[in-house]
Amino acid sequence: MKNNTIKETLRITILIPTLVLSAACTQKSVEKRTSKVKANFNGIAIPENYKDWRVLSASHRLDLTSMRIILGNDIAIEASRSGQTNPWPNGTIIAKLVYKQKQEDNWPTAIAPNEEKFIHAEFMFKDSKRFAGNGTGWGWARWLGDKQVPYGDKNDINQSCIACHTPVKGKDWVYTTSIKLP
Ligand code: HEC
Repeated sequence: MKNNTIKETLRITILIPTLVLSAACTQKSVEKRTSKVKANFNGIAIPENYKDWRVLSASHRLDLTSMRIILGNDIAIEASRSGQTNPWPNGTIIAKLVYKQKQEDNWPTAIAPNEEKFIHAEFMFKDSKRFAGNGTGWGWARWLGDKQVPYGDKNDINQSCIACHTPVKGKDWVYTTSIKLP
């Protein structure tokens, strides 16, 4: 009995520091991963987990021969599936990942994103209070290339985005219509 108690105490004294240590390491590696990408000039950080988001749609620009994958965070996906997209709810984040296009390796009449030529990732962040000042209720940010360099200039980070999205002002500034899933 006494032996068992000692064993148990030993087990716990070894186990607890190990758990704490591994939790600390996990925490550190997450911080390291997210802090690699610099925040944009307007103070917007790149969303930590956008690579895990789900697809809203895709598009293809004929003039720029590039392909775009449009993703949403959970709030965006839920809003799009329940048709609550005009306006999109606060907390929505929409991402657009842009690649140069290439011919599909094994099927010449198909095109696909060229995984070697990532152009940029850009995001719209809906927060009608925080971003009321720019007249859209969205925060706008873009990171360039594989190195994810913040794009823009501190005097004019939003204006080019907003100017080009003005034709869809009536659709809460969003071009994409989410694809319907059967
Ligand atoms: C030259 C015009 C133009 C500019 C400048 C522009 N956009 Fe867009 N954006 C579009 C068009 C057109 C689409 C939809 C078609 C597509 O996917 O390319 C779009 C789509 C998007 C989407 C996907 C959601 C949606 O509206 O369909 C995001 C996110 C986005 N843009 C963010 C930005 C950000 C951030 C900037 C500024 C850094 C920006 N855009 C600048 C034209 C523009």
